[in-house]
Amino acid sequence: MPDLFSPLTIKDVTLRNRIAMSPMTQHRAVDGRVGDFHVMLTGSRAAGGFGLVFPEQIAITADGRTSVHCAGIWEDGQIEGLARITRIVKEMGGVPAIQLGHTGRKGSECAPWLGRVQLPPEHPDGWQVRGPSDVPYGGVRPYPVHPLSIAEIADLHRAYADAARRALDAGFEWLELHFAHGYLGASFLSPLANRRTDAYGGPLANRVRYHLEALDAVRAVWPERLPLTMRLGSDDLNPAGTQFDDALAAVAMMKDHGLDLADLSIGFNTDDMNPKPFADLAFMVERAARVRREVGIPVATSWNLGLPAVADRVIREEAIDLVMLGRPALSNPHWPVWAARELAHPDPFSLVPEDWGWWLRNFRAHPDCIGWPPAAAPSA
Ligand SMILES: Cc1cc2nc3c(=O)[nH]c(=O)nc-3n(C[C@H](O)[C@H](O)[C@H](O)COP(=O)(O)O)c2cc1C
Repeated sequence: MPDLFSPLTIKDVTLRNRIAMSPMTQHRAVDGRVGDFHVMLTGSRAAGGFGLVFPEQIAITADGRTSVHCAGIWEDGQIEGLARITRIVKEMGGVPAIQLGHTGRKGSECAPWLGRVQLPPEHPDGWQVRGPSDVPYGGVRPYPVHPLSIAEIADLHRAYADAARRALDAGFEWLELHFAHGYLGASFLSPLANRRTDAYGGPLANRVRYHLEALDAVRAVWPERLPLTMRLGSDDLNPAGTQFDDALAAVAMMKDHGLDLADLSIGFNTDDMNPKPFADLAFMVERAARVRREVGIPVATSWNLGLPAVADRVIREEAIDLVMLGRPALSNPHWPVWAARELAHPDPFSLVPEDWGWWLRNFRAHPDCIGWPPAAAPSA
């Protein structure tokens, strides 16, 4: 039976444990390029014991960013910054992962702490957003959406392939396509955003065509030995949106197109959701476990898995294969070491770089004065 600290092998890549830092957009890139901040963010999490480390969603085109301050991979000049991330993550014992995406009708925004509003196309930091159909998201994202032509969809699939080639050059060893959170992949799947009447709209087999073609385009350049995964907006929590059973069928089709692992999340194609489970512990795990069981593919998920006992339990129960941590990874770069202490791991400092581990084990201090509170007594 695996636990949170068991290695996980997908294709030729082995993670040292089942703990990933989930992708998190930071709005700190310049001209789509990552810098020192991103190297610090990812390197420190790898040094803190995370097995798999993502920076943020990386845009395949300039208009695929959330804001002008988001990172991208649409030109070769963006490779070197990303290579700095992969080098430090590997040096610290982690596996560097990249999430490629396009924000679709949820682009052209400002950073959320500046008001989370979409900027109009004529704003110096805004642009004309694109999507499957001319349906604006609504609310704070009111601007008209340019419906993608068939030729423009083909251009995007070429952009995925070019981005994957650059990701390989940069040294990434795990590639996830972002089809969740109301971005372009999520909106092609959702009837709330996709009103097309051509081969990309209507029945599920058409609404998932965009994703299958993206997977095919990426697989053509991304080596078979490296994992190809995707994060799916598997439920819009709205009767008119993506239904989970459709998502299950979509993952099965993607498996036939080379998908190695499914990372399940919410659709976020609308603010009109019922229920809103966002304060509930582990609320995506049951859906992810169904995909694992019914499609027969390894799965990951995030959402309120930051309690070590909960994260460990969902792995031990073989509900999911990999725990994706967002906010817990932001707030504690050493979350895996903390979790190891909480779970009475025999050697928590085996998770940090070897030299630090040596000092922490051998340079005797008062046991409560090495930067960690005493480990909680293991629960029965
Ligand atoms: C600051 C921030 C930025 C995020 N950006 C992304 C992103 O770029 N791509 C993505 O798939 N999810 C993104 N997410 C969602 C997280 O990856 C994660 O799925 C979510 O926070 C739930 O996990 P948690 O409960 O462990 O935080 C972001 C979350 C936060 C807090």
